[in-house]
Amino acid sequence: MIKGRIFSGMQPSGKFHLGNYLGALDNWVKLQQNYECFFSIVDWHALTSSYENTENLQQNIFDMALDWLSAGLDPEKNVIFVQSHVKEHAELHLLLSMMTPLSWLERVPTYKDKLQQLGIQGKDINTYGFMGYPELMTADIVLYKADTVPVGEDQLPHLELSREIVRRFNHLYRPIFPEPKPYLSKASLLPGIDGRKMSKSYGNEIPFAASPDELRDRVRQMVTDPQRVKKTDPGNPNVCTVYTFHKIFSQDQVGEIAKCCREATIGCVACKKRLAEQMVSALADIHTRRRSLEANPGKVKEILTFGAERARVVAAATMEEVRQAMNL
Ligand code: TRP
Repeated sequence: MIKGRIFSGMQPSGKFHLGNYLGALDNWVKLQQNYECFFSIVDWHALTSSYENTENLQQNIFDMALDWLSAGLDPEKNVIFVQSHVKEHAELHLLLSMMTPLSWLERVPTYKDKLQQLGIQGKDINTYGFMGYPELMTADIVLYKADTVPVGEDQLPHLELSREIVRRFNHLYRPIFPEPKPYLSKASLLPGIDGRKMSKSYGNEIPFAASPDELRDRVRQMVTDPQRVKKTDPGNPNVCTVYTFHKIFSQDQVGEIAKCCREATIGCVACKKRLAEQMVSALADIHTRRRSLEANPGKVKEILTFGAERARVVAAATMEEVRQAMNL
């Protein structure tokens, strides 16, 4: 049974890691069973904060498509496309911007936070485009009349704004758009290999594109209980990153692993090997799909072209209604 229509997007930033997969993409893979889904690689959003360096953009878009397809998103069932391939996103963004008070955009909490955060890194994003980030996101969603938007908690203020803009549009002209509601994906429990939040900027990430050997390598570098110096020292699994991973990838064995760690009957090297093999087998299908897609990059491009064609049909119909409602 189809429960509704989903739109969601991700920025092609070249940083997609295993934490992003477990926090978001694996959720999409499940949702594709029960919803009509539009999933977009939002390259224009990537420009809102990285407009200066665009040389990696095409590669990043391609890599993101590979990530999504190897994760198991079905390009027949879902509409998978690149935002900039469907120009209607820009038109609707423009029209919605006419009726959005500046104060609404200024009070989005992520706006000032990110402005400051990126300012510290020496990035100047005091731009019109950056302020319009949630406006563009609103256009993305309502262009397909999506009612459900799977996002992380950090995106909730943006969706709040989207609903306000929708209400204003529907009130001023004609009720065309449904109010989109968030579908909260649970935050990923996966830390980085040093135990901090997984992030490429910390250098502690496990790339989602990692091959089995790269996975083994990253697991080997994980930090364990710092008090456990020798193999004969009893360990404390609760402070061990490897154990945190075992809780996700070795669910049926965690009790035993914790016991062996506390009793010092398993060493960290063996414990890591065990984890690595669990991860390799959990991700085996993903690796297989990735290898076959990598061997056929033309196919990936074709899928994106096909997706944009299908997205355009829906987008064009919505814009027809919007122009009529606004007397354009
Ligand atoms: N802002 C989202 C993020 O960074 C990406 C995004 C763009 C999005 N447009 C969207 C998410 C529309 C959901 C719906 O995660």
